[in-house]
Amino acid sequence: MFVLGIESTCDETAASVVKDGYEILSNVISSQVPIHKKYGGVFPELASRSHIEMIIPVIDEALQKANITLEMIDLIAVANGPGLIGSILIGLNTAKGLALALNKPFIGINHIEAHLYAAMMQNLNNMTFPSLGVVISGGHTMLLNIKDIGRYELIGSTIDDAIGECFDKVASILDLPYPGGPEIEKLASLGDPLKYHFIPAKPQKPFDFSFSGLKTKILYSIKGQNGKKGDKCLVSEEEKKHIAASFQKTAFSDLIDKVFKAAEMNNSKAIYFGGGVSNNQTLRAMVKNKAFSIEAFWPAKDLSLDNGAMIAGLAFHKFKNKFFGDVFNLEAKTCMPLV
Ligand code: KG4
Ligand code: ZN
Repeated sequence: MFVLGIESTCDETAASVVKDGYEILSNVISSQVPIHKKYGGVFPELASRSHIEMIIPVIDEALQKANITLEMIDLIAVANGPGLIGSILIGLNTAKGLALALNKPFIGINHIEAHLYAAMMQNLNNMTFPSLGVVISGGHTMLLNIKDIGRYELIGSTIDDAIGECFDKVASILDLPYPGGPEIEKLASLGDPLKYHFIPAKPQKPFDFSFSGLKTKILYSIKGQNGKKGDKCLVSEEEKKHIAASFQKTAFSDLIDKVFKAAEMNNSKAIYFGGGVSNNQTLRAMVKNKAFSIEAFWPAKDLSLDNGAMIAGLAFHKFKNKFFGDVFNLEAKTCMPLV
């Protein structure tokens, strides 16, 4: 079964052809980073306009790379949320148009659920449940008990900033370019993670996260107590490296601690990481060094950031389980809870 997956929820225009839920025949991603860089974050209106320009060329390229014609596609899948409304609408309406014109089945996919599926699709033969799902992206931070594909139980989530959002904001405080996550990782690799002792916040529920206080702590460490984002930096370039390293270590230690406790509590048979932050090699090394008995699975780089392959892959399972989208009524959603 050939599935065309379309993704445009934020600042990547992406399309992919996936066979039977796991075999990636093409995975084309057009990043808008150069457009948004000068604004220090995603500029929603410019994101929508760029999606309009790129969506057809990206789909064309995905079909060409897969050596497949539109007529050979069995299902058209699209992320209909969560994300930026204007951005989602471009992918969604393109997918609807294709499905109607070609008279093909159509399905809407939750972008966050697709992030969870990304690490699974590389290991479909070894899938065991219950497993722990860890979504760490620019918009979400969640621990989920995965009972099966499509059956989840929320264990914990952030009560304020998402972890990726926190990385982006701390990067901006450090005058690093957008997107900040990879920049923090680079700078942190030059610093001493033990130089600063930052303490993660403790939300009331044991598996929830809070990153906003940590971000403010970094702000004050750099601009002085009660300093503001626009204020002058009071630390040297050398010191910034140590602050970046200590911040990264604090955020990841807090995450890993809760991940392993949640996995134990749930008798998880595997841990699946997903979302842009899972791309961080320091995080992967920290998890590996734990030598925990439960195996952790990570998405490949072009499956961890926003992509169409995870949309197409997950859609295969949804379709098999008799989920269909209504071309006339499926809506774009900025918020789309998984459970
Ligand atoms: O999953 P994603 O591509 O988009 C969302 O659905 O949000 O995640 C983007 C987020 C951004 O916040 C970005 O800074 C972060 O993932 N990110 C990283 C790294 N690469 C991307 N954070 C930390 N380390 C990285 N290497
Ligand atoms: Zn994403």
